[in-house]
Amino acid sequence: MKAMICEAFGPLENLQWKEVPDPVLAPDKVRVRIHVASIGFMDTLMARGLYQLKPPLPYVPGACGAGEVIEVGSQISDIKVGDRVSFLNYYGAFAEQIVTDEASIVVLPPSMSYEQAATYRLSYNPAYLGMVYRAHMQPGETLLVTGASGGVGLAAVRLGKVLGARVIAAIGTPGKEDVVRQAGADEVVSYSQGAPLREQVKALTDGKGADVILDVVGGDVFDECMRCLNFMGRIIVMGFTSGRIAEAKTNLLLLKNASLLGVFLGGWMTRDLPGLKRLNHDLLALAEAGKIPAIVTHRFAMTDSVNAMNTLLSRKTVGKIVLENHF
Ligand SMILES: NC(=O)c1ccc[n+]([C@@H]2O[C@H](COP(=O)([O-])OP(=O)(O)OC[C@H]3O[C@@H](n4cnc5c(N)ncnc54)[C@H](OP(=O)(O)O)[C@@H]3O)[C@@H](O)[C@H]2O)c1
Repeated sequence: MKAMICEAFGPLENLQWKEVPDPVLAPDKVRVRIHVASIGFMDTLMARGLYQLKPPLPYVPGACGAGEVIEVGSQISDIKVGDRVSFLNYYGAFAEQIVTDEASIVVLPPSMSYEQAATYRLSYNPAYLGMVYRAHMQPGETLLVTGASGGVGLAAVRLGKVLGARVIAAIGTPGKEDVVRQAGADEVVSYSQGAPLREQVKALTDGKGADVILDVVGGDVFDECMRCLNFMGRIIVMGFTSGRIAEAKTNLLLLKNASLLGVFLGGWMTRDLPGLKRLNHDLLALAEAGKIPAIVTHRFAMTDSVNAMNTLLSRKTVGKIVLENHF
């Protein structure tokens, strides 16, 4: 098969599309022909050696994709050749094939396209885990989402509305207001322009702040989030796209009876398989009802993954970027 190969961590330009041996199928694994993969910020971190997990080299980047099952190991009983599936791993998706664990796979309903399947796992999965399982967000609460125009952020905005929250979308790059409003945001604020974020959010919440904050940016934006959290509020620590891991002032948590909640989808899904199945069951039901559409704005050929990842890092994109194989 052909795959995007990373032989050394560093600039994304190190990656090369080349012929490699087909991955070996073990008895407990499934082989998928990949039709569509999606790009997340973590893929760009991992290939540059900046992610918390460093795969053995050489490796194939790409966490998430969708395609058809073309072979199953002798111990697999619930998945069969021909099934349309999505998969979520740490890596292996920017290729023509992947051999993966049964646990990483979700069999798709007929109505779900490969494009939607390849994008919802690394956007709606972490957003749902954070808002529903960790923050126990309630209808009528106010949700603030930072990095709201990105893959996870836009999914959080959309899901926040589906769950009955009032959603404030926070963006850093001007020009992304329309897309977050189209996803359902009730209000839009900026962490790069105008008054400090805390003041913008307090002005929209009668001085109280947000009940739930989902933060993918970290750094100075996280510091501002700590200052505009309501009493009994919950901050979901999802990522650090700003590049700085913030330190929380615990006195603010004490004064507000507030909670700081870490969310790490990869660590959780390997420890709570029934929980992961429940979560995807709920999300597929929402997808079938048309409530969580894929928000894809850029499409590239799989061979063009480096260009696609650089496009994501430019901060000019919104929603998800997908990579397509044309067999
Ligand atoms: N914890 C988990 O389980 C989990 C799961 C999935 C993803 N994540 C993390 O969540 C974060 C977002 O992932 P994603 O795939 O949604 O990324 P994305 O699509 O690239 O979106 C990230 C957003 O962050 C904002 N941003 C602020 N400062 C930035 C900077 N210096 N460089 C780039 N973007 C910046 C951008 O919006 P503006 O330009 O408007 O500021 C951008 O829309 C990443 O840190 C990722 O690793 C965590």
